[in-house]
Amino acid sequence: MRTRAYLIITGALLGLIAAIQAAVVAFKVGDLVRLTRSETLLFKGETFLGAPKGQEFNVLKQDAAQVYVSFFKADGTQIAVTVPADALESVPPNAWNDLLGAVEGLRTQRYDDARKLLVRAGQDPQYRSAASLLMGRVNMMVAGKNSPAVLQGLRESSEQLCKLGYLSLALPMEETADRLAAQGGNAGPPSKIDRADLLRRVTLSNRAVARTRQAVALHRLVEASALVAEGLAAEPGRVELKTAQAYIEKKIADSEDDYRLADSFRKKQGGVVHALSALQDGIKRCADHPKLLALRKEMSEALEERTSPPVTPEFLKAAGVTVSASKNLEEGHRIYTSRCTECHDLEMLDSRSISGWQKMVASMARRAGINETQQAHVIEYLAAAQNSVESAK
Ligand code: HEC
Repeated sequence: MRTRAYLIITGALLGLIAAIQAAVVAFKVGDLVRLTRSETLLFKGETFLGAPKGQEFNVLKQDAAQVYVSFFKADGTQIAVTVPADALESVPPNAWNDLLGAVEGLRTQRYDDARKLLVRAGQDPQYRSAASLLMGRVNMMVAGKNSPAVLQGLRESSEQLCKLGYLSLALPMEETADRLAAQGGNAGPPSKIDRADLLRRVTLSNRAVARTRQAVALHRLVEASALVAEGLAAEPGRVELKTAQAYIEKKIADSEDDYRLADSFRKKQGGVVHALSALQDGIKRCADHPKLLALRKEMSEALEERTSPPVTPEFLKAAGVTVSASKNLEEGHRIYTSRCTECHDLEMLDSRSISGWQKMVASMARRAGINETQQAHVIEYLAAAQNSVESAK
């Protein structure tokens, strides 16, 4: 008897735990989520792209442990890529996202959700008036008594939102008004808004928001800056774009500083190493800065010498290794310069100790798709290369 009761209780507990776990990873369509670790995005089950921790996505749908999120390709087409649910978390709330969620709630007749979001958004002084405007409309919709007045209210507030530059809030309001008009069989007051233009602009700004996020995740800030400008031309008040703009401008300015530092160092006696490290800092900050990229090209020989020197007789001599080791070292060099450059630049050989490199190679091996023998060749090469650079000083 006792065992049985125990089993029942255990079973109930396990059920409860499973339910809690399921609840933790359930996302809704349209939710903004972000990666809790760096992950590989899959498209139709195949490896598509690596994405860093923190990158944000919009949820398209969830299917058990897989979440489909939206991704825009370079040609502007939208695709659904999959990410494991346990690598995602909801993005912490902010007032602007609450407003976006609330108008979506209004559009899809989830009035309670809309109200909750508006109460929260209203706590932010910057969005208090927009939140209270929208709350008034939601309450009118719920009361729903005098539909011509409700309709007029919706049209008016979407016009106001357009004037404020918040087109992505206005569009769902217009769509709500359309639904109401169709239901009542009464078109009501005509919308003063150019609907085709509104739809076009919001489509453009939504895409700009998503593509800016993607470009920022790859540190492609010059590209991101152009996307922000494009998006703001379509929707001048788009908050995500304005926030991103401030961040991007600051980072580009910092990478300009790196450029100036690198450029001044390389003209100084013995300044090459400092120049290279400033150059690498700059490219880490902004991966597509034209001046930094041009400088990298100009300094490519010096860079190669300090990140991945080729295995030559001089190399072997400077590294103090016998010629018999050269085959493994050449193999290590080949793997290192082909596989480890797929996603990022190579770091300076002296950026870490050989045990640091061992750990790094082991942690990157899965990403680079290299086996243990290949890892050993890479490490052997890195150790010899460190010695050769050291003895050349
Ligand atoms: C599929 C893409 C990919 C490949 C291939 C890859 N890396 Fe990385 N690497 C990353 C990412 C992304 C980061 C950023 C940090 C992170 O997410 O762990 C990184 C970071 C690094 C860093 C810097 C870590 C730090 O603390 O700043 C080093 C060094 C590095 N990788 C070395 C290597 C080596 C060596 C190889 C080859 C064995 C390699 N990487 C292959 C994606 C890759």
